[in-house]
Amino acid sequence: MIPIARPQMGEDEKSSVWEAMASGSLAQGPRVREFEERFAAFIGAGQAVATSSGTTALHLALLGYGIGPGDEVITVPFTFIASANSILYTGARPVFVDIDERDFTMDVTQIEAAITPRTKAIMPVSLYGQPADMSAITEIAERHGLAVVEDACQAHGAAIDGQRSGTWGAGTFSFYPTKNMTTGEGGMLTTHDAELADRVRLLREHGMKVRYHHDVVGYNFRMTDIAAAIGLAQLPKLAAFNDRRRAIAARYDAELRGVLTPTVRSSVTHVYHQYTIRVRDRDAFAERLKELGVGSAIYYPIPVHRQKPFVALGYGGETCPVTDRLTEEVLSIPVHPSLSDDEVSTVVAAVNATAEELGPR
Ligand SMILES: Cc1ncc(COP(=O)(O)O)c(C=O)c1O
Repeated sequence: MIPIARPQMGEDEKSSVWEAMASGSLAQGPRVREFEERFAAFIGAGQAVATSSGTTALHLALLGYGIGPGDEVITVPFTFIASANSILYTGARPVFVDIDERDFTMDVTQIEAAITPRTKAIMPVSLYGQPADMSAITEIAERHGLAVVEDACQAHGAAIDGQRSGTWGAGTFSFYPTKNMTTGEGGMLTTHDAELADRVRLLREHGMKVRYHHDVVGYNFRMTDIAAAIGLAQLPKLAAFNDRRRAIAARYDAELRGVLTPTVRSSVTHVYHQYTIRVRDRDAFAERLKELGVGSAIYYPIPVHRQKPFVALGYGGETCPVTDRLTEEVLSIPVHPSLSDDEVSTVVAAVNATAEELGPR
């Protein structure tokens, strides 16, 4: 079976982790600082703060902007639940707007109608490796005095006109094993705002600048030096990983038939965290691919506002028809950099045969 994801771990990661372990510095230490510096340089952001996960990076970004009970944050329901959960953790309320059918990211034409006196931030999601329309979103946010938190957890190295995801307002990344680069578990917040980064560093470590002197109630959202050691070995390979993802995506664009392939805005560098097609009779399609030896996955089968904990909070009545429709149609196929050319050919043949069998979308 060709898997939907295959983390690439080699000798570099092994020796880097072993050095960290042998150094005796296991919790947050010099490797975390070095990883932060290198990641900030890669993204082109002034500051980077490493965290225990993408979820905690999102949570800290919102707290760093002072968001809390009574506030509202505008986001999308077509995402992993962590985006919206991080808003709930602060005591604020997510307000959902629909996505643009063309690129699966926030429909910027719906933002202004969702703004109320309680709105404090906009959280677009750069889904599948394509940045949301960050210029338009930043322009609206500036006009209304709102913070911008880009959920770039799937967009390491993605860019608009050469400007990378993670350089507008605050950006957050995940290093979960399926992501374009990994640290096992881990996350990163990037920003040009040095004061925001300072507040986030404080909150990451129990509100502590001087050992056992606590200024605010904080958290333990630290990354370990062992995780950072993996990240330091992975980061130099990220550009090549992303190039390989793009090359595979180009073959799919050219060779797939009978399915809708992704649309990429002209100014965008897409990093294809996922290559997501739209198909007819999606569940049967996935089952048939499995029989043909091709793994696939549905990101995501239920919109966030229809998930049980959100329905329990009174959500579910929102009108997000694009999200509802795409939830029924999307199917991600393998696009990870370790696929061989033969495996890519197998995926193409399996998708095309299945589309022919079940009828074109
Ligand atoms: C869009 C999105 N947001 C947030 C997260 C949360 O990241 P993590 O799993 O590292 O907490 C993920 C990762 O799964 C994600 O894909």
